[in-house]
Amino acid sequence: MMSDENGLSHRFEINGHDFSNAGRISTNIKAILQEIGIHSSIVVRTAIASYEAEMNVVMYAHRAVLTLNITPEKLHLKLEDEGPGIENIDLAMKEGFSTATDEMREMGFGAGMGLPNIKKNADKFEISSIPGKGTSIDITICLDKTEKK
Ligand SMILES: Nc1ncnc2c1ncn2[C@@H]1O[C@H](COP(=O)(O)OP(=O)(O)OP(=O)(O)O)[C@@H](O)[C@H]1O
Ligand SMILES: [Mg+2]
Repeated sequence: MMSDENGLSHRFEINGHDFSNAGRISTNIKAILQEIGIHSSIVVRTAIASYEAEMNVVMYAHRAVLTLNITPEKLHLKLEDEGPGIENIDLAMKEGFSTATDEMREMGFGAGMGLPNIKKNADKFEISSIPGKGTSIDITICLDKTEKK
């Protein structure tokens, strides 16, 4: 963990196809946020978004680096993976669209709800991809706004 004038940041590595460790990083992130006293509603939204992003790397990519950055104003998750990328992002963002295998569906994945749920839980969501290279996701959750609610 690093802490400086740019806030607090933490870097995680995710391995593709590693179902035995799947979910570990989002659990870790949840614990970090709880420890520093982030509002529980923000912790839940961040945990959902990071879990879905992490699972997509496990299911579809080779590896990824996930960076968590927190300032008093916002929480930012940046995920950059190496993998097949996404050919049609509009289609991938549609609720119910999934290329999950039968094996993944048997494990309970493949509802095609991950990316839509990330978007729903984020205040700002950006996704870009280069087919054959990888996918990048940027998730921003505002902190000061919710605290005033
Ligand atoms: N990191 C990624 N790399 C390559 N393809 C991806 C990646 N993330 C998502 N996709 C593609 O986008 C589709 C939709 O993703 P989404 O997370 O919404 O649903 P899902 O993973 O198929 O199912 P669920 O998340 O509900 O278990 C995936 O089926 C896959 O084809
Ligand atoms: Mg998914």
